[in-house]
Amino acid sequence: METVRIFDTTLRDGEQSPGISLDVSEKLEIAEQLARLGVDIIEAGFPIASDGDFESVEAIAKTVRGPVICGLSRTGFKDIDRAWEAVRHAERNRIHVFIATSKIHMEKKLRMTPDQVKAEAAAGVARASGYTSDVEFSPEDGYRSDPDFMVEVCQIAVDNGATTLNIPDTVGFAVPEDFGRLIKYVIENVRGDFVVSTHCHNDLGLAVANSLAGVANGARQIECAVNGLGERAGNAALEEVVMAIRTRADFYSGIEVNVRSEELAKTSRIVSRLTGYPVQYNKAVVGRNAFAHEAGIHQHGVLMDRETYEIIDAASVGQEAVQIVLGKHSGRHAFRDTLEKMGLRIQGDALNSAFVRFKELADKKVEITEADLEAIVAEELGAETVHKFVLAELSVVGGTAQKPTATVVVSDVDGGKTEATGTGDGMIDAAIEAISIATGTTGKLTNFQVQSVTSGSDALGAVALQLESEGRKVSGRGVATDVVEASARAYLNAVNKIARLRGSAERDLEVGP
Ligand code: KIV
Ligand code: ZN
Repeated sequence: METVRIFDTTLRDGEQSPGISLDVSEKLEIAEQLARLGVDIIEAGFPIASDGDFESVEAIAKTVRGPVICGLSRTGFKDIDRAWEAVRHAERNRIHVFIATSKIHMEKKLRMTPDQVKAEAAAGVARASGYTSDVEFSPEDGYRSDPDFMVEVCQIAVDNGATTLNIPDTVGFAVPEDFGRLIKYVIENVRGDFVVSTHCHNDLGLAVANSLAGVANGARQIECAVNGLGERAGNAALEEVVMAIRTRADFYSGIEVNVRSEELAKTSRIVSRLTGYPVQYNKAVVGRNAFAHEAGIHQHGVLMDRETYEIIDAASVGQEAVQIVLGKHSGRHAFRDTLEKMGLRIQGDALNSAFVRFKELADKKVEITEADLEAIVAEELGAETVHKFVLAELSVVGGTAQKPTATVVVSDVDGGKTEATGTGDGMIDAAIEAISIATGTTGKLTNFQVQSVTSGSDALGAVALQLESEGRKVSGRGVATDVVEASARAYLNAVNKIARLRGSAERDLEVGP
């Protein structure tokens, strides 16, 4: 069997999706789950891009075991040295060097001649190979490049130590047959020992199809992201490429992927929760409707034999969530045991307050699911690290005849309590205004998403938002059965992060491929 390596770029290209900004602990949580999922390589970030990116890649390299940990880098020595500095702690590390080879990118963006690009590629790859034997090279905008020139640059990269050649369709312009041909052309025309990889963007909705065409033509690594996250319309969706290769083993015979597919749904949920990007209901493999049957004929068919209308066993992608039998009579032990079985590590004060939140929820909601527990724990783990302010009370009045007004009591870490009242366009707006006044933190909400964690009118509402304040951009999350309370908690979560970052010198640099 030949292995197609799964190179996950959720934390790099995925994090470049508009509005996503993950902090170190959030990136670590995703990286740990990616390791449980069994991806071969984690592209943990772009270390030169910001101090935050560097810290995250370094933390992942230090703690996450299993996959190769990779850092992205342009060809400049400063970039490469920084990437190495971040990934060098990993059990196995990789530096991913890229430079554009298309006419438009060389002329308009890089302002370099083709000869300069060749020299840059040679020097950059050689510098990276001085640090590690695992170097990947990408001719950015490869699909729109002159194939002969791109092949020449790839040859230079291999001659200088590159062991993986990644061919990006940076702008998602490719169609499967033609992309497959290009992969074959690279394999046939570059000499040496290297693995060819695909990196396809989804601007025409063809990222997965193009990646698979690459595999059919000899590519043995696919770059992809959980839930298809990535620049603009995103990258090839990890869960889709994995399940296409597994499910169509008859077509991709002799090819295997290492991923533990039972972790796919959970990985998708974690990424969605932390990035604030919802998963569309009918998303292949991980969408909530991917295994739902509405039509009577279909229901009848699957009752007779699942395979009448299902090509994937839901359990094989972790879609049959185990229903937790926890209820309002459950004790702390049962609660902690259940969390441990779900792989959620939580202790001390965070465990105590998660238990209190669970009891409150059990009073309001008949069925508490694994997804509810994950949401509660996620919020409490966040609260464990950032706890300057705590929401002590919230009351709102509104309706069609009164101006929406919210009053909050916020206690701070020094034991003080502040009460404040705010008004707004709706009750959520009023609650946020009241918290801004109570905490003395103002800012601009750049993203605001409300999602129900489970189904039913008693479901938990999960709010994910992004706050720009004091020159920083942070995310916040909150869950509660009431969406106004969930919004208040999410806003306070973001305010707490701003409070923590205040004084720190971290600033995002605007660097990006
Ligand atoms: O899309 C792209 O070309 C990239 C490269 C950095 C591989 O993300
Ligand atoms: Zn990309």
